[in-house]
Amino acid sequence: MDSNQIRETFLDFFRSKGHRIVPSAPMVVKNDPTLMFTNAGMNQFKDLFLGNSPIRDRRVADSQKCLRVSGKHNDLEEVGLDTYHHTMFEMLGNWSLGDYFKKEAIEWSWEFLTSPDYLGLDPEHLAVSVFAGDEHAPRDEESYEHWRRMGLPEDRIFFLPKENNWWGPAGITGPCGPDTEMFLITDKEPCGPDCSPACDCGRYLEIWNDVFMEYNKQADGSYLPLEQKNVDTGMGLDRTIAVLQGAPCVYESDVFRPIITKIEALSGRKYEEGGEVQRAIRIIADHIRCAA
Ligand code: GLY
Repeated sequence: MDSNQIRETFLDFFRSKGHRIVPSAPMVVKNDPTLMFTNAGMNQFKDLFLGNSPIRDRRVADSQKCLRVSGKHNDLEEVGLDTYHHTMFEMLGNWSLGDYFKKEAIEWSWEFLTSPDYLGLDPEHLAVSVFAGDEHAPRDEESYEHWRRMGLPEDRIFFLPKENNWWGPAGITGPCGPDTEMFLITDKEPCGPDCSPACDCGRYLEIWNDVFMEYNKQADGSYLPLEQKNVDTGMGLDRTIAVLQGAPCVYESDVFRPIITKIEALSGRKYEEGGEVQRAIRIIADHIRCAA
């Protein structure tokens, strides 16, 4: 599948589950003083999560253009150094605004990832993480049980702390919650006996997260329960394409390849030269795409 087919497949799947497909919001945020650029699919739904605006559709899905160049979601300095960081990306997401919660979110994530009608990934190469619990929210036994029901063995379900398994708020305050994350297990050997999705060794590649937005973080650091329970999922389209196309790196997928070919033609240098040249070409490709 190329990038357009993957995007359409995702949206069709969630349309079939009763979601209305909405357009991507602009990348420059207009009415939120806590945020300069859209950095996540949830930004355009923030007022709906908070109960500040009436909810028209309780199930929506989209492909949101995001930019991560500031604040705690800042990937700018990483661009070009590895195979998967870039500043602008598309986030595929499905949303429950006070409708379904953990059970359906997890069942649909699993169906979309593993069914031969959709992504068809090998279940044996998938692992997940769930929230280990702390003073703000309990250990997420419910998500654990849903993953077990999907057939995941215990040793591929990792309980991880807030640092790994909590998403948001997108700015300083606002909606947030524990999440469950899905990883492709790559061919890299475990880095040690404690190798898990929490380490950077590259064995586990995150492809999707389901955030259970049920808290509102306050300026004083406390977490108040939201009136309704919501789901916010995020699948990086570019990374998913790389996985499905068997490309070792997002820059070698169909999203970036034509841009890189043009940069090579203009510069007379080759991406395959590697090293600093390859890094520079990745940075130019990322920044041009983002600006466009
Ligand atoms: N679903 C949250 C995020 O990854 O942006």
